[in-house]
Amino acid sequence: MSLVLETPRLILRQFCAADLEPFVAYRNDPEVYRYQGWQIPYLRVDGENFIQQIKQSVPGTPGEWLQLAIVPRGGTALVGDVAFHITRTNPRLAYLGYSLSRSAWGQGYASEAVSKLVDYLFRVLDIHRVVADCDVKNSASIRLLERLRFRREAHYLESYWWDQEGTWGSEYLYALLQREWILR
Ligand SMILES: CC(C)(COP(=O)(O)OP(=O)(O)OC[C@H]1O[C@@H](n2cnc3c(N)ncnc32)[C@H](O)[C@@H]1OP(=O)(O)O)[C@@H](O)C(=O)NCCC(=O)NCCS
Repeated sequence: MSLVLETPRLILRQFCAADLEPFVAYRNDPEVYRYQGWQIPYLRVDGENFIQQIKQSVPGTPGEWLQLAIVPRGGTALVGDVAFHITRTNPRLAYLGYSLSRSAWGQGYASEAVSKLVDYLFRVLDIHRVVADCDVKNSASIRLLERLRFRREAHYLESYWWDQEGTWGSEYLYALLQREWILR
């Protein structure tokens, strides 16, 4: 089943084979993977497996992550992805993720894409609460979440092993409720 979301400047759609090159390229960019959990180097075969697997995903299946490719209108090449995960234990709770290739930073694309995804989660899938966590040093991600008026609810100290830096990382947890988004 295919899912397409549209914003004034972007199309968010499911991944296809043509996304492989740019996807693998930004997954190997140290500025993009710095706060992310995937293994480096991110091989071409990793990207092929990822795309193959995600093409079979049914959007909104509890317990699975679904990545959507972000493509500027009028273009074909993806510039990043947004992702969501609906928890297996409660299908009205969701997590968010997002990555943009470096050349697409600083244009408001991530805010536009994440905002659309959040709207879809609350209004279409009837999600009650959306959560995102990010490293306390990831200032661009913190700015994005606060721009969308996510609430910082927790500060976890040395809560994950930050493989890229070989040390413990600390995280903020941000959340937003459906009624807060709808009543805005
Ligand atoms: C997190 C990430 C997606 C944020 O990307 P971004 O481009 O900074 O975020 P936005 O798309 O919201 O763009 C906002 C910036 O664009 C600027 N901008 C330019 N034109 C704009 C427009 N039309 N609308 C909105 N903002 C615009 C804003 O002023 C803002 O700049 P600032 O951050 O210097 O204040 C990006 O840094 C990234 O991919 N990082 C690596 C992966 C990662 O860490 N993911 C998160 C894990 S928790």
